[in-house]
Amino acid sequence: MSVPWWRSAVVYQIYPRSFADADADGVGDLRGITERLEHVRDLGADAVWLSPIYRSPMADFGYDVADHTDVDPIFGSLADADALIARAHELGLRVLLDFVPNHTSDLHPWFAESRARRAAPKRDWYVWRGDDGVPNNWISQFGDGRPAWTRDPATGDWYLHSFLPEQPDLNWDEPAVEAAMHDVLRFWLRRGVDGFRIDVAHRLGKDPELGDNEPGRRHDEDWPSVHVRLAGIRRVLEEFDGDRLAVGEVYLLDQRALAPYITSGDELHLAHNFFFLRLPWSAERFRAAVDEFELLTRAGGWPAWCMNNHDHSRTATRYGRDRARVAAVLVLTLRGTPFLFQGEELGLTDGAVPPEAIVDVDGRDPERVPIPWEPGAGAGFTTGRAWLPVHPDAERLAVAVQQGDPASALELYRTLLALRRATPALQHGSYRSVHAAPDVFAYVREHEGERLLVALNFAPFPRPLPAEADGARLVLSTHAEPRAGELAADEARVLELGRARG
Ligand code: GLC
Repeated sequence: MSVPWWRSAVVYQIYPRSFADADADGVGDLRGITERLEHVRDLGADAVWLSPIYRSPMADFGYDVADHTDVDPIFGSLADADALIARAHELGLRVLLDFVPNHTSDLHPWFAESRARRAAPKRDWYVWRGDDGVPNNWISQFGDGRPAWTRDPATGDWYLHSFLPEQPDLNWDEPAVEAAMHDVLRFWLRRGVDGFRIDVAHRLGKDPELGDNEPGRRHDEDWPSVHVRLAGIRRVLEEFDGDRLAVGEVYLLDQRALAPYITSGDELHLAHNFFFLRLPWSAERFRAAVDEFELLTRAGGWPAWCMNNHDHSRTATRYGRDRARVAAVLVLTLRGTPFLFQGEELGLTDGAVPPEAIVDVDGRDPERVPIPWEPGAGAGFTTGRAWLPVHPDAERLAVAVQQGDPASALELYRTLLALRRATPALQHGSYRSVHAAPDVFAYVREHEGERLLVALNFAPFPRPLPAEADGARLVLSTHAEPRAGELAADEARVLELGRARG
C-alpha cells in the first residue's frame, strides 16, 4: 500500500479574512489568497486548510454557515473558489476546507424552517425541548458560563447551541441531517478539494437523552455515537479517489480520549491535539505528552501536531520569540503531520487590538490580525482599511523584509520544511525520546538506518547536549554559532547520527 500524501505533508492554515485582500475592502478574500499561494509553495508546505469561506452572517466569522454550498460575497464567488483550487493544484498544493457540521447559522434556511412551528418538517433537524426552565446544565462554549439553550419566541421552546445563540446545533440523531451534510461534503469533493478540517468533531455525538454533565462524564460531547458519525464521513471521502483527508478538531484535553478518534482506521485520518498545544513551556511536559501519544498511536493512527491556530494566542506570545523558534523545530521534526498557522512562519506575536477595535466574541482577534507582506500602509495586506489593525511589527516582520535574512523566522521555517522534505527519517521515521539533561527534550528519528537527533533546550541558560550527540554532524541550529558540546539558552539543534548498523 502506498503512503497517503498527508503522512508526509505539512499543512498551512489560512484564515481567509486576514491573508490577503485583493478588492481593497479591508477583508481578505479568495482572489487575494490565490495571488499569494506562491508564498505557501515557497515556504515548502504541501497543503492549505482554509477556515470557512461559506456564506455567513459572520457572527463567528464564518463558523456560522448560512449556505454550505456557496461562497460568502465578502470572500468572492464559487468561480473564485474553483480558481483557487485550480491554482493550488498547479503549484502542487492540496486544498482542505473547513467543514462545520455541529451547527449552522440561525439564518440558515434549515433553521428558519425548523424554528417556525413545532410541526415543521425540519423541526427535528435541530435540538428542541419544550421544558419550562432551561433543559439541562450544558453551557455555551462562549459566554462565561451561560446556558447552551435559548428560548425561541416562535414556539416558546428551547434550542441547543454549543456556541453562540446565532449558532444552533444540528441534530445528528436525525438521519436526514447526516444525509444532507454528507451531500455538502460531496459538493466540495466534486469541485476538487482534497479534504476537510472538521470543526468541533467531538460534538457530533451527544447524549440523545440530554442528560446533565456530571463530574468526570460529559453528555454534550464525545458520546459513543460520535465514532459512528465520523466513520460515516470517512465513507463519503472514500467514495472519491485521491486519499481525501479528514482532520478533526477534537478538543479533548486528554490524549487517551483523543486517540480512539484516529486509531480505528475507519474514522478521522488525523486529529489536532490540544493537550499538546496547551502545554506550558517544559521539556518534561512535552516529552511526557509526546511519549504518551506515541504509545497510544503506535499500533495504528498517525499524529498531527500544531502549536498555533486561529483560536489561540500565538507561540511567540505564549512562550516568547526565542522559544517559538524551538517550538517550530519541535512541531516540524516530530513523527506526525505538522499544521502551521499563517504568520507563525513570520514569528508573529499576537497583534495589538485596542478595545474599540475588538470584533470577536471570544477574545481571539489578536491572533487573527492581517499578515504583513510588505512594509508600508496596509502592510501589503490591503490598500483599504484593514478589518483588524495590522500587526505592530509589520515593518520589521513583513514577508518581503524577512526574505533572505538567515536570522529570520521565515528562513528558519523554510530551512526546516526543506529539511523535512529531503529527510525520510523526519517524514516517516520512528520516534524515540532519549535521556537528556533537565530542561532538554531530545529524541531520535530513524528510518532505514538514517538517524537524526533533535535536541531542544527549554531553559534560558546553556544545557549539555545528550550523550548521543558525540561525533554527530550538525544539520541545523536555531542559533547562528552553535557551540560544541552544549546547547545555548533557547537553542534547538538537529544532528545526524552515524547510520545504524543493520
Ligand atoms: C471551532 C473553531 C472556532 C469556532 C468554533 C465554533 O472551535 O475553531 O473558531 O468559533 O469551532 O464553530
